[in-house]
Amino acid sequence: MKKLLFQFDTDPVPSSFDGVVAYDGGADHLLSFPNMNPDNVEGIVHGAIFTRGGKDKQNTAIFVGGSNLAQGEALFDAVQQIFFSGFRVSLMLDSNGCNTTASAAVARITNLGSIAGKKAVVFAGTGPVGQRGAVLLAQEGAAVVLTSRKLDRAEAACAAMGDRFGVSLTPMQVSDSPSTRAALDGAQIILAAGASGIELVPEVLWRDSPSLEIIADINTVPPLGVGGLDMMDKGEVRHDKKCIGGLGIGSLKLKVHRAAIARLFEANNQVFDAGEIYALAKELA
Ligand SMILES: NC(=O)c1ccc[n+]([C@@H]2O[C@H](COP(=O)([O-])OP(=O)(O)OC[C@H]3O[C@@H](n4cnc5c(N)ncnc54)[C@H](OP(=O)(O)O)[C@@H]3O)[C@@H](O)[C@H]2O)c1
Repeated sequence: MKKLLFQFDTDPVPSSFDGVVAYDGGADHLLSFPNMNPDNVEGIVHGAIFTRGGKDKQNTAIFVGGSNLAQGEALFDAVQQIFFSGFRVSLMLDSNGCNTTASAAVARITNLGSIAGKKAVVFAGTGPVGQRGAVLLAQEGAAVVLTSRKLDRAEAACAAMGDRFGVSLTPMQVSDSPSTRAALDGAQIILAAGASGIELVPEVLWRDSPSLEIIADINTVPPLGVGGLDMMDKGEVRHDKKCIGGLGIGSLKLKVHRAAIARLFEANNQVFDAGEIYALAKELA
């Protein structure tokens, strides 16, 4: 029986990246649906849950993606509301790679040392990856500051993640060198999660920090999010700090993404969001 992955994308054009990884993760066929939302999903979910019986159901699974995390979460929640008793298939949320990328980043960070009780700053943490990264760092016991160029955006992201995961994140406006310095004051960990090709933390602002221990940058498009890193870094020491670059994270992200797709087809009742995908990343890191 063919393994079918339903790709529910909230964008008008489903992600080609997610499509390729679906096949590399073990799907035999991808059914891609664009512009998905809670109002148009019911009939398609019925097509997924009513067509195969018993153990055969595990050969169907659903992947929720797209560039907007809030829309992805709403769709992910709506799909679960449609499931009932045994009429369900395994389901994964990864809008813009939020869970797989953040999980890979935080697994790489925690591989370098315990972060419990330490201050972690997620720069430009308002995007899908930064929001999930902040949650995972907080769940590992770090005191997390999430920054944005606009305080209200940081506050909204912290509130949304607090509501969904019960974590407490501290919002902060960071938009220039003085505010970047203020965010770094006393911080042990940096996770830079900004948009591609934007330098958020120049080398001159972090190299002499007496407190910083670990710096991770998710961006893979020069200029990098943290100046002075190499995107291949996987724990290299620079100015006495352990560094992780975007490709150091990306290699694990791809492994995690593929493994999560493979796991979807092992049972028909799995739900993969940040916690489940992070557990997988820790296994693979
Ligand atoms: N390494 C990997 O394997 C991998 C995988 C997936 C994604 N990525 C990378 O991960 C990063 C985060 O992805 P994402 O989808 O969460 O990011 P995103 O939503 O595109 O951007 C994250 C945040 O960056 C800030 N930002 C945007 N333009 C900026 C500018 N000109 N100056 C300063 N800040 C700016 C915005 O925050 P505010 O407006 O709130 O300030 C935005 O919310 C991206 O660089 C992406 O390419 C890497």
